Amino acid sequence: MVELRNPFTPTFGIVPPFMAGRSHLIDDILRALDSGPGDPNLSTMFIGARGTGKTALLSYLATEALGHGWIAVSVAATPGMLEDIYEQTCEVAAEYVDREDLPRIKGMSLGRILSVEWESPRPDEGNWRTRMTRLLKALEAYEIGVLFTVDEVSASSDEMIAFASTYQMLVREGRRVGLLMAGLPHQVSGLLRNESVSFLRRSVQHSLGNIPDQEIAFALQRTVEGGGRHVDDDALNIMVSAVGGFPYMMQLVGFRAWGIEPDSPSITPRAAQQGVELARGDMEQRVFAPTYYELSEGDLRYLRAMLKDEGVSRTSDIARRMGVTSNYASQYRLRLVEQGVVGERGRGKVAIELPYFKEYLKKRLND
Ligand SMILES: Nc1ncnc2c1ncn2[C@@H]1O[C@H](COP(=O)(O)OP(=O)(O)OP(=O)(O)O)[C@@H](O)[C@H]1O
Ligand SMILES: [Mg+2]
Repeated sequence: MVELRNPFTPTFGIVPPFMAGRSHLIDDILRALDSGPGDPNLSTMFIGARGTGKTALLSYLATEALGHGWIAVSVAATPGMLEDIYEQTCEVAAEYVDREDLPRIKGMSLGRILSVEWESPRPDEGNWRTRMTRLLKALEAYEIGVLFTVDEVSASSDEMIAFASTYQMLVREGRRVGLLMAGLPHQVSGLLRNESVSFLRRSVQHSLGNIPDQEIAFALQRTVEGGGRHVDDDALNIMVSAVGGFPYMMQLVGFRAWGIEPDSPSITPRAAQQGVELARGDMEQRVFAPTYYELSEGDLRYLRAMLKDEGVSRTSDIARRMGVTSNYASQYRLRLVEQGVVGERGRGKVAIELPYFKEYLKKRLND
């Protein structure tokens, strides 16, 4: 028997074969693409800690956009992003204009689009905004919109800020444009504090939190079955409770459990259990250790003061254990919340966000 290919994708930036949760967000965006300029969801910011699936979501939406008459131009907020956006817009248009499965785009050649763009004696004439506008106008003649996706937004990227202000102009002019952004919580809040892009504060903001267990169970099962095997109910329960709603962990657990007895027609509870153990090791090495090294002394003191509690901690207890005032402790709480390590649980209560990070901290901090 030929060994079946492992369908799980425990690699950052890869769109999984089956997306767990997120269907409301996806629907909002796709609906916005159909309704066009004026829909508030056309400017959306996804905010989430490492491994919550920001890049996968942007890539997924970029691919889906095509079927709705939009080409997607995807960049990260790094130096050179403006030129990158311009060049990609030309290239992506070239790649898709003649595809049969895109009714609205069908039948038009890139030559026609670009001839408008190149009509002026010197095609590269004008600044970025003029060149981009010329291209957008040419595309609009065929009702093609351009969806920009900007990953890893950062407060310190000058080009991101320049892009955001130009984008605002394009929106005001009623151009067929959309902007999906994604970033870590502290980067996003830094960017939104910048006065020159204050209009971004009005973008729709979604926090990519933990995914409910039933949706994880459904996605695990669909992924396994899509790969040609089955998963026992007991095995599924073991896997779901180890995932804790965290997308990257879902891929690790699925990948490892699949690999224990790859020739067996189904994933057994024994394989699930062993897979979970291996996946925890992967998490430590690839997520916990790098996260731990980014924490300051003060952050670690705050976290150490949380370890005594089961689940949720009271912020007043934490301050008392640290031997500092609540005000002083709250500056570390805010930092940890922005880093996605700690999450608020109602007034005056917090918990550690990443599944099993607490166990990892106990090992590191109590040694
Ligand atoms: N909705 C989802 N359901 C299941 N798995 C997912 C989902 N979204 C992402 N993943 C998987 O989770 C992992 C992390 O995804 P991704 O790289 O998109 O995270 P990220 O938020 O961009 O992380 P980083 O902040 O490090 O860039 C990948 O293995 C991806 O395949
Ligand atoms: Mg990413």
